Amino acid sequence: MVDGKHGEAKQKAMELLVALGECYGAEEMIPVTSAHLSAANPINAGKGGTNFIKNMAEKGGKFVIPTTTNPASLDPWAWKEMGFTEELYHEQAALSEAISKMGGLICNTCTPYLIGHVPRVREHIAWAESSAIVYANAVLGSRSNKESGLTALMAGITGRTPAYGYHLDENRFGKLKIMVGVPLKGETAYATLGFFVGKIAQDRIPIFTGISRFASHHELKCLGAALATSGSVVHYHVVGVTPEALTEELASGFKKIHSSDCIEVTLRELKETEESLSSIGPEHADLVVLGCPYSSIDQIKNYTNAFWGRRIKKDVEVWILTARIIKRYAEDLGYVNTLESLGVRLVSNTCPATMPHDFFKKQGYRAVATDSPKLVYYISNTKDIPCYYGSLDKIIHVITTDI
Ligand code: F3S
Repeated sequence: MVDGKHGEAKQKAMELLVALGECYGAEEMIPVTSAHLSAANPINAGKGGTNFIKNMAEKGGKFVIPTTTNPASLDPWAWKEMGFTEELYHEQAALSEAISKMGGLICNTCTPYLIGHVPRVREHIAWAESSAIVYANAVLGSRSNKESGLTALMAGITGRTPAYGYHLDENRFGKLKIMVGVPLKGETAYATLGFFVGKIAQDRIPIFTGISRFASHHELKCLGAALATSGSVVHYHVVGVTPEALTEELASGFKKIHSSDCIEVTLRELKETEESLSSIGPEHADLVVLGCPYSSIDQIKNYTNAFWGRRIKKDVEVWILTARIIKRYAEDLGYVNTLESLGVRLVSNTCPATMPHDFFKKQGYRAVATDSPKLVYYISNTKDIPCYYGSLDKIIHVITTDI
C-alpha cells in the first residue's frame, strides 16, 4: 500500500498510519474489522478536513471494512423548521456524499452499536467518538484506540491500524480501583459517577467494584460517556459485569493496586458532582436536551412514559436525540406521535456538539437543562449557554404540569 500499488488514496492513508505507528513505537500493523468516523460533519471537520475527505474520495478511496458516521451538523429531515441554514444543509450533504462515495454507511449516530454495528470481544477496530470508543472497549470487549476523525478514516480505507495502546493485552488492565459504596439508580447516577471518576482517572483505566451486576447497557453507556468527558478514559472495568472483568484480579492483570489509587465513592461525592455541573436551576431552562449518547428504542419508550400525562410549560422546548433509524422504529411503534402530541421533538442524526457554535444563541435559546454531563460540557463551553444538570425526573417535575 505504501508503495502505491493499491492506488493513491490507500498510499496516502497507509503513509499516515505508518507515521502514527512509528510515533507510538508500534511493531506491526494489524487488521481492523470496523471503523467509525467522528468528523462526518462540516463543523467538526472544518474546511480543511472536509476538503481532505472529498479529496480522498476523488482519489478513489474506498472503505474496505464497515465504516459508520457520527452525528451531522443538522437534522437532515427537519433542518428548515429547526432554523439551520440552507448553506449548512448543502455543506453537510456534500460531505456525506463524499463519505458515501467511498462506501461509508451514513447513519450519523454516536451509538453505532445500537443500530447493528457491533464488533465482537477481542476484535480490533478503529473508532472515533469518545463515548462510542469507551463503550466498545469496556462493554463490548472490542479493542480500539482513541482515534481521530482522520485516523479512523485511514483505517477504514486500509483495513489496518498500528498495533499499540489499547490493542495490546498489557495496556488493558485497570490501574485505579473505584469502590462504589452507594446503590446507583438510573442513568444519571451512572453519568454522575463517571464524571466524578473521569477527573481523577484522566487516562488511566478504572476498575469499579460495588456496581450491581444488573447494570443496564444504557447505564454503562452513560458511565463511559461521562468518564470520557471529564477525563480521557478509553476503557474501564466493572467487576462481574464487563467482559474483561469477571474478577478483580483479571481486571488488574493480577497486580495489586496501591492504596493511594483506591478511591471510595459515597453519596457525598455524587451529590457534590451533580451540583457542580449546574450553573442555573431547571426553572430557567427554555430548552431541554435528552438522549446523550443517542437514545435506544427502549429509552425512547421510557421517555414517552415519563412525559405521558404531563403538559410542557409554555416557552420550553424538549428535544430527544437519536439516530434516524431508531426514530423510524419509534414512529412504527407510535412513540413519535405520542411525544409530538405532548410537544417533544425527536431530533435525529445531529447533536448540539456538532451544530454551529452560534446556533443556540441565534435561535434565542438562553438556558438548557439536560440529564447528560457530556452535553453540559459541550453546551456551556462551546455554545456559551448556561446549563442545569439533573435526572429526567427532576427536569420533568419542573418543566411540566399535570394535564
Ligand atoms: Fe453523542 Fe452528541 Fe452526546 S455526539 S455522545 S449526543 S454530545
